[in-house]
Amino acid sequence: MKATFKMPFIHIIILTGLCSLYLYSCNNNTAQTDDPPTRDQMLEQGKYLVESMGCNDCHTPTIMTPNGPVDDSSRFLSGIRQTDTSLQPFDASEISLIKSGGAIILPTGAWTGGWGVSFPANLTPDSTTGIGGWNADIFIRTIRSGKYQGVLAGRPLMPPMPWKVYSKLTDNDLKAIFAYLQTIPAVHNQVPSYIPFNQIPIEK
Ligand code: HEC
Repeated sequence: MKATFKMPFIHIIILTGLCSLYLYSCNNNTAQTDDPPTRDQMLEQGKYLVESMGCNDCHTPTIMTPNGPVDDSSRFLSGIRQTDTSLQPFDASEISLIKSGGAIILPTGAWTGGWGVSFPANLTPDSTTGIGGWNADIFIRTIRSGKYQGVLAGRPLMPPMPWKVYSKLTDNDLKAIFAYLQTIPAVHNQVPSYIPFNQIPIEK
């Protein structure tokens, strides 16, 4: 005998109602998780990323103490100090070290290697010497393309800026970093221009 299953009309109505309720609640959940973060959440996420991804290690100058170098918190993320940018000429052994793939980190925070001399940038919102004149698009383009100031036809960002690592972050994370950087104290500090390898000062 064939088994038959008859569903009374009223059951169908109740079932349809329950399904709609379930779908509504799913949609509703999705809508909640897709909500853009609030500004406070964004700034908190940006601070968290900046503090956990090492920006400070290169972009904040240090002060020497008896216990070693400590961050100069009054110059948070403002790049190599404008007053510390004169370069002593490199001697023959330093040049041969660089040529063999080594790198020299100067006490000021400038980095010298086979690419030349690079100076950690001023990431504070100062409008002329920092990134106060940037918007999130320029910031994202800079990190994603690894091009100085986000100019695609311009020069590449030099080591050791780990832009390839940061380029893997989502747009929302990069926007959060940028939003947070725009809230830190602006420091007027002109970081010198990158020096290509063939222009490194060499001891005579
Ligand atoms: C290991 C050192 C190092 C770390 C860590 C680092 N940077 Fe950099 N960064 C540099 C150096 C050096 C430059 C300058 C490169 C150049 O001039 O070509 C630079 C350049 C930049 C620039 C480009 C500025 C411009 O005018 O185009 C941005 C933006 C930037 N860094 C943001 C960050 C952020 C945000 C973090 C953390 C998430 C970070 N950096 C971590 C060393 C570092």
